Amino acid sequence: MHDRMPGRPSAHAALAFYDDQHPPAGDFLADVLEGFSRTPKQLAPVYFYDATGSAIFDEITDLPEYYVTRTELDILDRIGPELSGLAGPGAVVIEPGSGSSVKIRKLLDALSEPAAYVGLDISGTHLEAACQEIAADYPALQVGAICADFTQGLDLSQLQLESGRRIIFFPGSTIGNFEPEGARQLLAGFRDALRPGDAVLIGADRVKNTDTLVAAYDDAQGVTARFNLNLVDRINRELDGTIDPSGLSHKAIWNAEKARIEMHLVADHAQRFHVAGREFELREGESIHTENSHKFTPESFTSLAESVGFDVLHSWSDAADLFSLHWLEPAAKA
Ligand code: AVJ
Repeated sequence: MHDRMPGRPSAHAALAFYDDQHPPAGDFLADVLEGFSRTPKQLAPVYFYDATGSAIFDEITDLPEYYVTRTELDILDRIGPELSGLAGPGAVVIEPGSGSSVKIRKLLDALSEPAAYVGLDISGTHLEAACQEIAADYPALQVGAICADFTQGLDLSQLQLESGRRIIFFPGSTIGNFEPEGARQLLAGFRDALRPGDAVLIGADRVKNTDTLVAAYDDAQGVTARFNLNLVDRINRELDGTIDPSGLSHKAIWNAEKARIEMHLVADHAQRFHVAGREFELREGESIHTENSHKFTPESFTSLAESVGFDVLHSWSDAADLFSLHWLEPAAKA
């Protein structure tokens, strides 16, 4: 291959295909202006994950209070043989929002002779890097990439791959970041991309005692507070913002009625600020709502999945019932 870099052949492992569906780029400025014009003020959690935010998120996953990541990894370790039996040989693993490289590797290692891996992400650079790494480390696997917004449905029509059983892998309880209607739409999109016998393996964090939940989003070392406040730093840096971050306090609250942890930035005192020339104000005690992280019971998750035409065929939890992984298959059409 003529573009091969001497000495680093593995960095150029070939992808079986790269399908660019040209997702419209998120408009950070428009979304911030719109969110700050609402009552209560609100920002979208997708904007947490710039390079700094992603690095802070990695720190979060190592915190003693943040049980989510390590519990899901433990469950994955434990159920590997079972997953291998369920998937059978020749599976085509599809990962929307690819990036959880530790988790996908655990899954690929557990399966028997998976045929293909397809990463799907809105960020092309991120996607290509992630898929190249998988391709380099799993030479027997066909690796493809789809650059698309997975919240808008999954168009797998360009999948130029062996037609093994499709398994959509959606770990991390990312589903919890969506409001109920958005979560339904997302799962319905997965459902529409699957055929009978295909499956979804999805992680969902569970409802549990309030202290454990709040501590996971308001840790003693203040890492989650930094994660939350990084959003304001981003606005100040990238959008010509003048928000005083030292006047904002990180808050995590459990909203029992909606079964979700909410993250907020609360103004310690009134402040006026600008974003891209537009003026806004925060009253003392006013909050900017930055994230929802919905939690599930076995019943609430099953009813969500069934409402869009999935059967929940298997569910696995840790001994303390902190977190669950679920195996969904399209319900037989009535
Ligand atoms: C990766 C979105 C699932 O909601 O637990 C962690 C993000 N926010 N700490 C979560 C997050 C604050 C995380 N998700």
